[in-house]
Amino acid sequence: MAILKIARMGHPVLRRVAEPVEVAPNGPIKPVVRQLAHDMIETMLDAPGIGLAAPQVHVGWRMIVFRVPLERATGADGDKPMESQALINPEFEPLSDEQVLGWEGCLSIPGLRGAVPRYRSIRYWGLDLAGNRVERTATGTHARVIQHEMDHLNAVLYLDRMPDMGKLTFTEEMKYFSADALLQDKAAG
Ligand code: NI
Repeated sequence: MAILKIARMGHPVLRRVAEPVEVAPNGPIKPVVRQLAHDMIETMLDAPGIGLAAPQVHVGWRMIVFRVPLERATGADGDKPMESQALINPEFEPLSDEQVLGWEGCLSIPGLRGAVPRYRSIRYWGLDLAGNRVERTATGTHARVIQHEMDHLNAVLYLDRMPDMGKLTFTEEMKYFSADALLQDKAAG
């Protein structure tokens, strides 16, 4: 196990589209891929963060790790805590056009938070480290972290998706945003 160096915004690896992980049909996941996944989980927990994509540790593979800690699970619509886990060659599709604004940070953009629109509910799929296909629906923090990490595989950062740079803030200054600031915006469309 190892804690990996995290690429910060400006490093070109974050602006390259990642390549699919080679997986033989019904074959086991290669040890090098499993090792990277374990190291990414350790790096994510150390940071600490709730998600990490392989390009963020300078590897151009389509693999993400994520978790939903108890305090971040909203409980609404089945948004439950999730253990740390890896997803290989993930894909997703929205279950409706509805988007919601929520605060996000990124381990590659330390110290900042921004309000980002994401699909409220999605279906996603990929392979786990045993090579089994995983398919789930997700809402809340679970849906948000999957969309954020999958953006990294496509060379997109959350800043690219922000409609209002007035809602980009240092974490320490978030106190100046009222709790319902995002809801008001949502109502205003
Ligand atoms: Ni990120």
